[in-house]
Formats: sequence, C-alpha cells, structure tokens
Amino acid sequence: ATVGIVGCPFSGGQKRAGVDLAPNKLIEAGLVDQLSSLGWNVHYESQQSYIDIPYNPIPTSSPSAPSKTEGTVETQQDRGEVVQRLPDPDIGLMKKPRLVSAVNEKVAKQVGEIAEKGWLPLTLGGDHSLAMGTVAGTKSKYPDACLIWVDAHADINTPLTTESGNLHGCPVSFLLGLEGCDVAPFNEWLSPCLKPEEIVYIGLRDIDDGEKKILRENGIKAYTMHHVDKYGIGKVVEMALDYVNPNREKPVHLSFDVDALDPTVAPSTGTPVRGGLTFREGHYITEALAETGCLVSVDIMRIS
Ligand code: ARG
Ligand code: MN
Ligand code: MN
Ligand code: MN
Repeated sequence: ATVGIVGCPFSGGQKRAGVDLAPNKLIEAGLVDQLSSLGWNVHYESQQSYIDIPYNPIPTSSPSAPSKTEGTVETQQDRGEVVQRLPDPDIGLMKKPRLVSAVNEKVAKQVGEIAEKGWLPLTLGGDHSLAMGTVAGTKSKYPDACLIWVDAHADINTPLTTESGNLHGCPVSFLLGLEGCDVAPFNEWLSPCLKPEEIVYIGLRDIDDGEKKILRENGIKAYTMHHVDKYGIGKVVEMALDYVNPNREKPVHLSFDVDALDPTVAPSTGTPVRGGLTFREGHYITEALAETGCLVSVDIMRIS
C-alpha cells in the first residue's frame, strides 16, 4: 500500500505561529523511514501550501508579522526572496478568509489527487482549518466517506457564531454547509459535501455555546471525554463506528487534532485543554480504525 504525505506548514486559520513548522519537523524526525519500515510505500512531496498564494501567511500576533493591513506588504521568506503579498482584511467576523480559502482549495486538490491514485493521503498540519480541504478532497474521490473527528474542540463554529474569528474553529460547518457558510471566497470552490449523520466526534471537552446549539440542532453525534471515562476508549470507538459506519463498509476519513490528547502527553499545541486522552487512548483510536480496513484518509493536525 502507498501513502501520500501532504505537508501543510500552515497557521493562517488561527493566530499563533508554530503550527506551520510541524510537517517539516515530523519529516526530519524520520516519519518517512518509520512508515517505510511498517511496510508502506511512501510518497512525500514537500508542499509549501501557501508558497504561491498571494496573501500573507504570517500570523498577526507574530513579531515578524507586518503591521500594515492596507496595500501590499512585502514579506521576507521562502528561499529568502521578498514576495509581494496582498492584504487580507476580515470578512465579517472571519480572519484571513482569502488566505485560508486559497490554501484549502489547494489542499483539497492535492488530497483528491492522491486519493484518486488509490493511495492513502496523510496530511500533516498545520492548523485544523485545513480539514476543509482534506475532507473535501477525500469526498471528491469517496462521496460516501464518513468522518471521525478526534479533538478537544468541535470546530463547528460558523462565520456567524465564531467568537474568535479564527477559521480553525469553523471547518466542520463549511463542510456541512451550515447557515452563514455560503460566503465568498469559500463558495467559489467548496460546496457542502458532508451530512450531519456522516460525522462523529471523539474527545470533546471545550465547546462554545454557539457550537452546542449547532450540535444539538443538527443531531450530531459526539463522544466527549465524559463518555471516554464512562465506557472506556474501546467501547467508545466501537460505538462511534457503529454510528457512522454500522456495516464497516464505508470509507473512513480520520481527522485527528493532537489537542485531543491530554496536554501532559502533547503539550505542543496552540489550544491545550486539560482532561484529555492518554497516550494509549490516542493510539488506540488510530489502531482500531486501521484495523477496520476502511481508512482512506488521515489528518494529523496542529502539532506545534
Ligand atoms: N472554539 C474555539 C474557536 O472557535 C476554539 C477552536 C479551537 N480549534 C482548534 N482547531 N484548535 O476559536
Ligand atoms: Mn481542531
Ligand atoms: Mn482542537
Ligand atoms: Mn471556549
């Protein structure tokens, strides 16, 4: 079997630098060799997701971020060249909408092409706004794919409900096509591709009020940390699969946000929330999903 790694050094969906360094670090740490030794054929093309995208990728809170918001800015990066960047002012509550949209359009294409070859796309984030692209890409090849979202957060805010304006808190809504998500520039390439009954969450423990309402109104299934405590991770994964994939015949996309893990296990993330999954619980989820033979696409997001 062949895995196609998509490295997405991208942090534009939120305001902290660092998540963008993760893909290269994982590769440097020997990920390709590790996968090879497990018997995988590994294809890795270093993808600077935003390299030819004309918006400034640097988080605004970063000391090196240009302070100008009007007119073009010059940023020194990418092979030392000075690149002209267009401004990307907020649209409504959304921060960096053009950048996030353009990067995700590209990621959707990359993931779709890898899936089209029959390979397993493995996307290394980068922040979780990237799941708009990865899931859209998976769905282009496997329209009946279901989504298992492992996260401390539901990431189901909309451009109307987001309290932070950070698009890493909104990818699921765009995939579902919830109210407020049919907006430019996203609607120029992304159409709703996920049904509420095709997603299940594991690990939730920090959900905004607006998100709770959305989850309730759309009848979306979630196994929170409370359920992990109550039933144990083995039972939770089984129940989650029984819900989205009762006959174990549908393709599965796993989107794993490392902040699902307890901060004592995975401190390197921008939005740590205590009371998370143990090292073994996190690994168990991936092992149990691999065992089903249904996995067709995997994201590992927001390591920083
Ligand atoms: N719910 C918060 C927000 O909308 C936090 C989202 C955190 N998301 C993440 N992918 N870490 O901003
Ligand atoms: Mn997330
Ligand atoms: Mn999260
Ligand atoms: Mn909160």
